[in-house]
Amino acid sequence: MGVSTAGYQIEGAVAEGGRGPSIWDTFSHTPGRTLNGDTGDVACDHYHRWEEDLDLMAELGVGAYRFSVAWPRIQPDGTGAPNPDGLDFYDRLVDGLAARGITAVPTLFHWDLPQALEDRDGWLSRETALRFAEYAGHVADRLGDRVTRWITLNEPVVHMAQGYAWGTHAPGRTLNLEALPVAHHQLLGHGLAARQLRERGATEVMITNNCTPVSPASDSEVDQVAAMLYDGFHNRLFNDPVLTGKYPEFLEEGLAPVIQDGDLEIIATPLDALGINYYNPTLVGAPTSEGEMFDLRPIEGVPTTAFGWPVVPEGLHELLTGLKNTYENLPPVYITENGCSTDDVLDDQFRIDYLDGHLGAVKRAIQDGVDVRGYFVWSLLDNFEWAEGYSQRFGLVRVDFKTLTRTPRASFRWLRDALR
Ligand code: FCB
Repeated sequence: MGVSTAGYQIEGAVAEGGRGPSIWDTFSHTPGRTLNGDTGDVACDHYHRWEEDLDLMAELGVGAYRFSVAWPRIQPDGTGAPNPDGLDFYDRLVDGLAARGITAVPTLFHWDLPQALEDRDGWLSRETALRFAEYAGHVADRLGDRVTRWITLNEPVVHMAQGYAWGTHAPGRTLNLEALPVAHHQLLGHGLAARQLRERGATEVMITNNCTPVSPASDSEVDQVAAMLYDGFHNRLFNDPVLTGKYPEFLEEGLAPVIQDGDLEIIATPLDALGINYYNPTLVGAPTSEGEMFDLRPIEGVPTTAFGWPVVPEGLHELLTGLKNTYENLPPVYITENGCSTDDVLDDQFRIDYLDGHLGAVKRAIQDGVDVRGYFVWSLLDNFEWAEGYSQRFGLVRVDFKTLTRTPRASFRWLRDALR
């Protein structure tokens, strides 16, 4: 059992320790991009308060902590020799975790690309995959004597779709289907980085994919085709190549121009585990306007989170058993994120029910033969929720963003007692 966070969402200190700007600094400082113009400039100030946050984890009693390394702290320009101050920060963090008996699980890319690389076309460029592998090597050179479990990328589908296709996240591009190369280059970066990590002693290398079980809105053929397409873009585009070395057939032609000989072998470098982030299932119908491929429909009759996301614990069981049935060689699985946003309350019975329901679904999946090795709650702290700024509160611990005071919620005590 663990908790999960991400660099830009909690660290703040964006101009300290030699950190360079990331695409999220640029994006959040562009008027109209985030709710209320919120930025990650200060966030939870975890960069200065990390010891307090580690103490909270120790009190909670979790065995593992998934955090992300901010690439622009390690390579302010995205290339070249690593910045010692940036490495020092994560070095101290890893030691602080070890001192508290907590396993460090770093993610190397949680969306905060160095702006200098975006200026050279970001993940639209194959170069970024090569740079990512170099960066991974630098981090592992420093931490690899203590860290053996690594995550390369977080949710490449969300980064491609929101960042490059629709423009709702950094870098804010609106390329629609032209964003497809971003999938391939991220996956290539994953495979190249996995090899760098292994060479430095990593024993558990994984990628974290955002997965959702997809259902058609009806059994009509048009709804079924739309659901199949959605499943292809959201799930299979990222799971198939890493697990089978092939892209879904209907996407092969679109991807062909950027695929070079040998790429798919690199991408399919065997995984030790698959990381899965699950929040909700998706109901898909035929498109209602021209030029679209599918229409996402509301799921009726279930509670919704503060974000408006439907709460369907059974979806996690369905997802896990579905993956086992689809991929013969499915490696062990970690749920690397699961959680919900609630109103700004301390008595968050809603979150307790959410977590309890989803842990039950994981238990059923294990009973049905899925090899689930771990579960990480999103998130330890309320934090900068991307385009939604500070409006969505996902924390087991409340953060007052004026004083930066941390206050454990009822769900924190519930989980602590359950873990004991
Ligand atoms: C996931 C992201 C994570 C957080 C949660 C709510 O898609 O990986 O950073 O924003 O959603």
